[in-house]
Amino acid sequence: MTEACSEKLRRLRAEDIPAAAQLSAQAGWNQTEGDWWTLLELSPEGCLAIEVDGHLAATTTLLCYGRRLAWIGMVLTKAEYQRRGFARRLMAHALETADRMGIATIKLDATDQGQPLYESLGFRSEQEIERWSRSGGNGQSPPSPASLEEPWRDFDSLVFGTDRSQLLERLARLNPPRSISQSYLFTRPGRVTAYLGPCVSEDPRPARHLIEECVRDARCAWSWDLFPRNQHAVALARDLGFSPQRHLVRMARGKELREKENVIHAIAGFELG
Ligand SMILES: CC(C)(COP(=O)(O)OP(=O)(O)OC[C@H]1O[C@@H](n2cnc3c(N)ncnc32)[C@H](O)[C@@H]1OP(=O)(O)O)[C@@H](O)C(=O)NCCC(=O)NCCS
Repeated sequence: MTEACSEKLRRLRAEDIPAAAQLSAQAGWNQTEGDWWTLLELSPEGCLAIEVDGHLAATTTLLCYGRRLAWIGMVLTKAEYQRRGFARRLMAHALETADRMGIATIKLDATDQGQPLYESLGFRSEQEIERWSRSGGNGQSPPSPASLEEPWRDFDSLVFGTDRSQLLERLARLNPPRSISQSYLFTRPGRVTAYLGPCVSEDPRPARHLIEECVRDARCAWSWDLFPRNQHAVALARDLGFSPQRHLVRMARGKELREKENVIHAIAGFELG
């Protein structure tokens, strides 16, 4: 006789973070516990979980950038619980929340495994997005030189399409970005490799300078998520010894909202936009 197990969809809590980080690590992803903290602190109501018999089985996060845009990330189901409809339930819940809040556009970066689910929920493909990496030492990014400037203040929302200053402020507090005039580059530690992004620059030359300097200062391994349509980013990644590792698709639901991919040389993360 098999016992019925108890399943519960609820908010993700601080005490779930070690199990959540294990879940993302089991999928081979690069996020750290710190990345989960960022999501939970910026969006305590948008971070969702399904627990089975008291254990974390699946997650999905919804990060709202005002009412204009929300980002879905960390859609993960533990291997032994897959194909039971957990991701679909979590997605439906996140979409209901976003719709109730009147969010105009919802976006995400889809893996091959996730894409059929998102298509069935009305998401359309926008463009390709790729993880590029280069090998090196351990996964820590170098401390950046302290900077009091906030070059993203006026410029970032024009490029990203909406205001994400709360996210950038948090990332900057954790690891100050490098900047030249209105061009900026953030980095952060990763589980396997250090993470490079977001990097925004209208002119590709300062972006090249910032990224070259950053990877020269640190001999660690790096990951960098870029739009293949941004040929400057692709050329620079190749010049610096990066190679493509993973291929995802940026998808959107709702009102059209396009980022300026020719100015975004590195995104903030698949789970952040
Ligand atoms: C993608 C993932 C989250 C799906 O989780 P899940 O709880 O098993 O998904 P569900 O049971 O709710 O299935 C939802 C739909 O997803 C699709 N799907 C699920 N697993 C799939 C797979 N292995 N291959 C192709 N499609 C799949 C199907 O369309 C399915 O609908 P159906 O059951 O009506 O056929 C899970 O496989 C996973 O954690 N994968 C690794 C991490 C990842 O790639 N996450 C997506 C990030 S964008």
